Amino acid sequence: MNVAIVGAGPGGLYLAILLKRDDPAHRVTVYERNRLEDTFGFGVVFSDETLENVGEADPETNAALAAAAARWEDIEIHYRGTVTRSTGHRFSGVERTTLLQLLAARSRALGVELHPQQEIRDLGDCGLPSADLIVLADGVASAMRDRLADRFEPRIDWRRNRFVWLGTSRPFPAFTFYFKESPAGLWRTHAYQYAPGRSTFIVEAREETWQASGLDETDERATVAYLERLFAEELGGHRLLANRSIWRRFPTVRNARWHSGNVVLLGDAAHTAHFSVGSGTKLAMEDAIALAAALRRERPVPEALAAYEADRRPPVESLQRAAQASLEWFEAVERYHDTEPIQFAFNLLTRSLRITHDNLKLRDPALVARVDRWFAEGAARQSGRPVAAGPAPPPLFTPYRIRDLVLPNRIVVSSMCQYRAVDGMPNDWHLVHLGSRALGGAGLVMTEMTDVSPEGRISPGCAGMYRTEHVDGWRRIVEFVHRESGAGIGMQLSHAGRKGSTCVLWEGEDQPLPAGNWPLIAPSPIPYRPHNQVPREMTRADMDRVALEFEQAAAMAEAAGFDLLELHLAHGYLLASFISPLTNRRTDEYGGSLAGRMRYPLEIVSRVRAAWPAARPLSVRISATDWAPGGLEPADAVEVAGLAVAAGADIVDVSAGQTVPEGKPVYGRQFQTPFSDRIRHEARVPTMTVGNISSAADVNTILAAGRADLVVLARAHLWDPYWTRHAAAELGFPLPWPSEYETLNRYKPRMK
Ligand SMILES: Cc1cc2nc3c(=O)[nH]c(=O)nc-3n(C[C@H](O)[C@H](O)[C@H](O)COP(=O)(O)OP(=O)(O)OC[C@H]3O[C@@H](n4cnc5c(N)ncnc54)[C@H](O)[C@@H]3O)c2cc1C
Ligand SMILES: Cc1cc2nc3c(=O)[nH]c(=O)nc-3n(C[C@H](O)[C@H](O)[C@H](O)COP(=O)(O)O)c2cc1C
Repeated sequence: MNVAIVGAGPGGLYLAILLKRDDPAHRVTVYERNRLEDTFGFGVVFSDETLENVGEADPETNAALAAAAARWEDIEIHYRGTVTRSTGHRFSGVERTTLLQLLAARSRALGVELHPQQEIRDLGDCGLPSADLIVLADGVASAMRDRLADRFEPRIDWRRNRFVWLGTSRPFPAFTFYFKESPAGLWRTHAYQYAPGRSTFIVEAREETWQASGLDETDERATVAYLERLFAEELGGHRLLANRSIWRRFPTVRNARWHSGNVVLLGDAAHTAHFSVGSGTKLAMEDAIALAAALRRERPVPEALAAYEADRRPPVESLQRAAQASLEWFEAVERYHDTEPIQFAFNLLTRSLRITHDNLKLRDPALVARVDRWFAEGAARQSGRPVAAGPAPPPLFTPYRIRDLVLPNRIVVSSMCQYRAVDGMPNDWHLVHLGSRALGGAGLVMTEMTDVSPEGRISPGCAGMYRTEHVDGWRRIVEFVHRESGAGIGMQLSHAGRKGSTCVLWEGEDQPLPAGNWPLIAPSPIPYRPHNQVPREMTRADMDRVALEFEQAAAMAEAAGFDLLELHLAHGYLLASFISPLTNRRTDEYGGSLAGRMRYPLEIVSRVRAAWPAARPLSVRISATDWAPGGLEPADAVEVAGLAVAAGADIVDVSAGQTVPEGKPVYGRQFQTPFSDRIRHEARVPTMTVGNISSAADVNTILAAGRADLVVLARAHLWDPYWTRHAAAELGFPLPWPSEYETLNRYKPRMK
């Protein structure tokens, strides 16, 4: 096979090595526009796992790399005059020039033809036309990829922060993060040693901070002088070193396709991952491993390229998601400026979701014990319930107070429509559904969306709180939960608005009823889907009536004994459709700006607050984004949350989407938690987070990092009503059992 590789970075060179190793008869030619020894930057980081992968593919490269690498286990976080050290993170640093020299030497030894100072301008250049396979490993700014943009469809997301890649002679015994305040703003530094007396020193700041510092993009000398002054103490007399150290913005590169015919993208040309997860070189070298393996397995070439892309895309996209979370963390770090240093450090360490509470416990049990102790003491102060003697409980099993309600732990059973009521009346199904989940150990159990009027129901099977009989129906459930479990029980009150009058879920989601539809109301006469009923635009008289229905429902919920009320301002139901600009087109004072669109929902919040006992808490569930162009954005949600709390809500239950059918959610583990985190820190209000959270490790991580105060699980509770009990068994926490089940403790079965 005749292979032409454009670019002698780590990706291109490593592929050349692997192909020649596989078959010395392959002709492998690498074209590099620069001299081989010319390179930007200083050192790159590898995890032990990456070195192992590389080692398996080519033990000679691994041996040379291992000999050249500097190693460390610790991460140090310098923040507000404190240093938090975490251990157990095994990394190696290698000088980028050394890496490239090693790879170039190994390539030559295997017979790869290297053509330095040979720039490739199009597919007709040099030996490319005669090649069986053309590999574009020409880096992040790949001109070849852009020339073939119609084939690969690259998308480049230029991030807003500025960063500069510098070196220093100061040795760093740990991967070191500095967060340094200056009059211009907050500077972040990522520093690590890659050779004795040689370290990478990347400085990052917001665009505004960088501009206020008066630096410009290309003046290296001014940058070095400014940063040496700023970091004089941290550098301890050492100098900063520049090497094409210009101020950049990070481009996240994605391509719709990585291959076309016999041409394939590899490394940064195909995808980038933010430097804060230190994985660009790893990804490029792992691409090379996967491409070589695909070519070994499959022929003809286009089939091998398809196999390569199919193998590599999932892990690359997973790492890109982690890198995205990490880069967003560094972009938004000003948000955490007043968190306690221990929480700040834990938050940083767990920012990309790859390290969790339990995972960090394996690496650094002492640090996690400190975090748990700090968290439990805070919870004891907040709730007024002292921490029990002995080791601190995991964050999940700490109490939480909202007004006079003290929840025994941080797990909430999310509201889930059951569609089993008749004229709004709850029955045995609801008793068992909610009762079993309360026995399952959750701290708070929420009723499904419970409607304030028959017309406010989604379907004929929806639960209600509008007839006097409903009070007794619900009281039976509330009393069971209070009598038989330690859980609190809350009611979610709602009006379906334009999403009403449809079949129960399993008979046709969002489908109008075959008969017996009722008229709908909404802020604007826009049907949910084209085939749904057009709602009538609400008049002020309609608003008065619905507000009264909410007040009456609140009074009935009080009579039934509920501990907490939640107002449903999410998912496109009546109140949510006032908030979203996509569903509210009113020209009166209840439309227009966010303040106008919030006017009616806030009126409901304050009227319900007034009708609901002062000792009992009120929550609001909001959609933090519509996931749709022109819709509500997370920045608006910060305002929505702040306004709702100012109007009387105690906590914000942060969900997202379901406002318009064309919304395109970006799903993933904990996909809505970043909204909760942002609202909690920017609006400075207590939050609950919900959405694809299923493990105790994730719950503990979210809580200890301060991304939410309570964690809400829906589907995980359908699957396992005893989710909290299982979490207790997994974490070794002694959650008391109902007396009837005490025999479990006597016979001590193995719970894991
Ligand atoms: C500030 C910063 C910090 C980083 N930190 C790390 C880190 O800690 N760990 C890590 O793993 N990665 C890090 N990276 C990323 C890492 O440098 C890249 O991800 C990695 O080099 C990608 O390898 P590659 O082979 O795909 O491309 P590159 O290394 O960019 O190589 C592409 C090569 O192609 C050549 N070329 C381009 N166009 C042509 C052409 N038309 N003809 C011929 N030759 C051409 C270029 O000259 C270059 O030599 C960092 C990057 C930056 C900017
Ligand atoms: C069967 C079912 C019914 C639901 N009904 C409601 C509801 O009544 N009110 C509400 O706010 N959310 C409702 N949701 C959304 C959930 O409360 C939750 O926000 C969503 O499922 C994401 O959480 P999860 O990933 O833990 O399931 C429902 C979800 C499910 C699966």
